[in-house]
Amino acid sequence: MIKIICVCGARPNFMKIAPIMQAFKKSGNFQTLLVHTGQHYDKKMSHLFFEELNIPRPNINLEVGSGSHAVQTAEIMKRFEPVVSDFRPDYVLVVGDVNSTIACGLVAVKLGVKLIHVEAGLRSFDRTMPEEINRVLTDRISDLLFVTEQSGVDNLKNECVNSGKVHLVGNVMIDTLFANRDKAEKSLVLEQLKLEKKKYAVITLHRPSNVDDLANLGKIIAAFEAIQKDLKLVFPIHPRTRNNISGTDLQKRIEAMKNLILLEPVGYLDFLKLMTNAALVMTDSGGIQEETTILGVPCMTLRENTERPVTITEGTNHLVALTTADILAVYEDIKSRNFNISGKIPRFWDGKAAERIAKVVADI
Ligand code: UD1
Ligand code: UDP
Repeated sequence: MIKIICVCGARPNFMKIAPIMQAFKKSGNFQTLLVHTGQHYDKKMSHLFFEELNIPRPNINLEVGSGSHAVQTAEIMKRFEPVVSDFRPDYVLVVGDVNSTIACGLVAVKLGVKLIHVEAGLRSFDRTMPEEINRVLTDRISDLLFVTEQSGVDNLKNECVNSGKVHLVGNVMIDTLFANRDKAEKSLVLEQLKLEKKKYAVITLHRPSNVDDLANLGKIIAAFEAIQKDLKLVFPIHPRTRNNISGTDLQKRIEAMKNLILLEPVGYLDFLKLMTNAALVMTDSGGIQEETTILGVPCMTLRENTERPVTITEGTNHLVALTTADILAVYEDIKSRNFNISGKIPRFWDGKAAERIAKVVADI
């Protein structure tokens, strides 16, 4: 049996770890230990996804909670080290680009345990993004790098990573999307919110560059104030954003918009149903750029760059510069096309990425 610790910690990790846990179980070759770092801990940012996506209950929750980058990363490392020492795995597997990813990766390699990175190679080339630092460093110390799109393979080649370690396997987040599409269809969220199909846009925002600087956030909110005059907006707000605007003028402006529905973060199945039937998604999320590409729903990514370029070259994604005028101009353009943007499905985004990962690891 291959002994492997699988790590998850923040919301997007749960959608990625779910199919990997299933594929390892199905393969029969793995003895897994699932570790939740506790980076995200609100019910709607964590536990809900375990129930909805049938992720096994974590064997261990490190319960690190929130903190500055240094505090959070260090606390995860301190608490993860004895887990690795006790379990003595052959591999530690980390996903994505959050602080839990790099923290657990560093612990593993320093204890001489091989590291697997799922979603390797993505680069925004923007070192002001905390995630970019996490990606670059995690890839540098990984022994096996599983990549979602060709750009990732090219980036790793340019960084002189040994090509024998790199495997283009597709996208585990899309495995989860395909596995849950039928279930999401049954969600009653549209009825509950009194939404008509293709008559609303979904918004998510949580990048520090957009929501920690309230002047920047103000430019985005000004665009939403104009857009909601002709399209209903649904905004499940991330806790970082909610906390940042609490008690500010921006909170009042958001709450004053008559055609904007402000929600707590919603579960995966409701969110998938909301995205599937939206006319448009406006977001700064990494994963949502990929999901809208598969759903064929136009996506305005409120960022200057993306580490997921295939969502633009093949998918339905558009980068938008962060001025009110630019946001409105792209919105008007997509609207003038009746919110109809066609795209292709990127290679290997077929629901079988996790199976490929299990096979590669088992065959070594
Ligand atoms: C983290 C990831 C980011 C990812 C995002 C997904 C890092 C550096 N960032 O950003 O890459 O895109 O998750 O959602 O790892 N909070 C709560 N409840 C929670 C979790 C967080 O209230 O369950 C609040 C806390 O005030 C916390 C803040 O949100 O300080 C930020 O949380 P944190 O995990 O540090 O970063 P995210 O912005 O969530
Ligand atoms: N998501 C969700 N509920 C929400 C918002 C997002 O289930 O209210 C899902 C979304 O479908 C995707 C994942 O959360 O699967 C993306 O997470 P997030 O945007 O927090 O992180 P990122 O992908 O930017 O790292």
